[in-house]
Amino acid sequence: MNIAVLISGTGTNLKALLKAKKNGEFDSSISLIVANRNAEGLKYGDEENIDTFVIKNSEELLEKLEEYKIDFIVLAGYLKPIPDFIVKKYKNRIINIHPALLPKYGGKGYYGMRVHEEVFKNKDGISGATVHYVTEEIDKGDIILQREVDISDVKSAQEIKDRVLEIEHKILKDAIKKIEVNMK
Ligand code: GRF
Repeated sequence: MNIAVLISGTGTNLKALLKAKKNGEFDSSISLIVANRNAEGLKYGDEENIDTFVIKNSEELLEKLEEYKIDFIVLAGYLKPIPDFIVKKYKNRIINIHPALLPKYGGKGYYGMRVHEEVFKNKDGISGATVHYVTEEIDKGDIILQREVDISDVKSAQEIKDRVLEIEHKILKDAIKKIEVNMK
């Protein structure tokens, strides 16, 4: 697959993907990195000489996806909703990493620290991360991979975030590998 990775923030999931690619953990190429703002994570693309762009709107996003002949999109901490015309054009070819065990703690308003604060408040004993297909409904697409982590001993929401992020860095690349195997 010819992958574009979309980010909005620190890009640690992008960094983990690039490392996994370097280690030969999946075959697909990452040809394009796009952010909706001047995200810190763009530097990881620069370090690997992958073209990076900050786009102003969805039309620009589509232009870049077509220009780079992208056939698979990975949302790695991308905080803007993907408009329906792009979801339709790339049906079943957009995945997202979510920092919780969907369907719990998913949907509108559930992103980043807000998720972990809610999990902490509810005193859940486990949390985890989910890779799922992106559809028109936020966080409702079919789940590809999900992995749990024990959080029964945590003292803060930040600790949950740190443990879940480690899981994210593993399952996003594993999900790409799984999709590649299923495509064979
Ligand atoms: C991660 O927690 C991801 O699950 C969420 O946004 C965060 C992105 O982190 N969607 P990073 O930009 O990959 O470091």
